[in-house]
Amino acid sequence: MDDENLEFSVEAYSAVSWNAGMLTLLDQRKLPKEINYLDYDSAIAVAVAIKDMVVRGAPAIGIAGAYAVVLAARSAWQEAEESWREKIEGDIHKLATARPTAVNLNWAIAEMRKLFDSIEGEPETALLELAQRIHSKDIAANHEMGRLGAELITANSQIITHCNAGALATGGYGTALGVIKTAFKNGSIKNVFSSETRPWFQGARLTSWELQQAQIPVTVVIDSAIASVMINNKIAWLIVGSDRIAANGDVANKIGTYCHAISAYYHGVKVMIVAPSSTVDMEVESGAYIPIENRGKEEVTNFKTTRIAPNDIEAINPGFDITPAKLIDVIVTEKGIVHNPDTKKMLALFG
Ligand code: MRU
Repeated sequence: MDDENLEFSVEAYSAVSWNAGMLTLLDQRKLPKEINYLDYDSAIAVAVAIKDMVVRGAPAIGIAGAYAVVLAARSAWQEAEESWREKIEGDIHKLATARPTAVNLNWAIAEMRKLFDSIEGEPETALLELAQRIHSKDIAANHEMGRLGAELITANSQIITHCNAGALATGGYGTALGVIKTAFKNGSIKNVFSSETRPWFQGARLTSWELQQAQIPVTVVIDSAIASVMINNKIAWLIVGSDRIAANGDVANKIGTYCHAISAYYHGVKVMIVAPSSTVDMEVESGAYIPIENRGKEEVTNFKTTRIAPNDIEAINPGFDITPAKLIDVIVTEKGIVHNPDTKKMLALFG
């Protein structure tokens, strides 16, 4: 798709957008009950919003990070025109460390940084142009992955997805949900099972809402029902997104993906990972080296503000897990598809 012809979004809502010199984020903590947009004019506030899950999903936090670099550069320039490049570093560090697993955040910041040296005068205009380009390219990549992935789905298929890898998690359209949306348009999807995705319920709140908006049949199930859904229904594919893909094809994604992939292997369900090339990290040899975000234990011991576990109980809350490459049938990117991924095949496409 030509850059000139890119649409910003085909959905009626947008997780990330730039309006009148500010970054606007759809507050995903409130969905689907409330559609509430928040405006940001400071990079530090965006870093907090990323950490606090106002915006989430690997490509969406990358795009938000790129726009936040624009905000950081603007305020650094206003503070000291001569030394904006040095002044911006503190903000960039806070952004880059807001969430550790999704490589897209650091990838987008690195892309923005590449421009710094060539900028003469005020930096906002050139940086904004690049952030918007990163945003529109992500949408184009999603449409291309949608086309490629949908070609693998045969008529009347039932699909399982986990977490939310849709328009809400990206610049627009979605990765895993992009494939599902295109396959639905092609007439290949009968129903989608969306696992709830504790503790933030991205599957129960966001994927169900997004598919309902697109009029795609969706059934929500609790995470621990997935093996049962697989044995009691004819499921063609488990289709999910990713936060980082290692050089050997191991995939980091929302906690529970590994469990679903093991169930898929046992029940003969194929596994499709859908992610843009900005999610591929060829510098990380295998999943063992991908940093896994550990979030606060109160997300496990409490349900909203109500305590459900006894006081002083131990709890752990890893946000992501690693699905080994050998459990994955295909990795779909906008650059092409890797079947039965391994280091050699990954190198051939992303070398
Ligand atoms: O904690 P989240 O909601 O940011 O986790 C999101 C996921 O795990 C998604 O599956 C992944 O980022 C891919 S989104 C296209």
